[in-house]
Amino acid sequence: MPPPRLTALYPGSFDPPTLGHLDLIERGRRIFPRLIVAVLRNSEKEPLFTVAERCAMLRECTSGWEGVEVAEFSGLLVDFAARVGAGALLRGIRAISDYEYEFQMAWMNRRMAPELETVFMMPGEDYAYLSSRLVKQVAAGGRPVTGMVPETVERRLQAKLREILTTPKTR
Ligand code: PNS
Repeated sequence: MPPPRLTALYPGSFDPPTLGHLDLIERGRRIFPRLIVAVLRNSEKEPLFTVAERCAMLRECTSGWEGVEVAEFSGLLVDFAARVGAGALLRGIRAISDYEYEFQMAWMNRRMAPELETVFMMPGEDYAYLSSRLVKQVAAGGRPVTGMVPETVERRLQAKLREILTTPKTR
């Protein structure tokens, strides 16, 4: 029996997208004919970039990548998956420390939508310890993040941090 031609969602905050995220998108599109990068709108975390900015960066970085789409979502991921007809969720696992959080989410998603399969993939080893959170810390400390994020993201990150630094604080 040939494998099913599944649409997969690759969900996340992508605040900002890193080369690790792009590596995973490339790996995912080798398996899934349609891969929707799903950007969470109402994150519990206070994002640095707006959802529109995050989607724009992802679209720019994946432009011309056949089968890859970028969309924003809010609410439950399983409901968005049902709306777009996705049969799989793709998540990256870096170190052992990712497992607990990822398994909690995967089990909860399976409970709500048993037909939706979570697929874990490992990023390339260059990206094993890369995260958007650390990238933001390094950039905010004035250090380059070359080799961690695409050039366009690095430029936007520096511009965003300048914007924040020059905006007068109200408290
Ligand atoms: O990049 P992140 O922040 O680790 O991604 C987390 C994300 C967006 C995948 C997760 O927070 C999520 O799916 N949020 C949507 C709300 C939801 O469905 N919650 C239940 C998951 S168990």
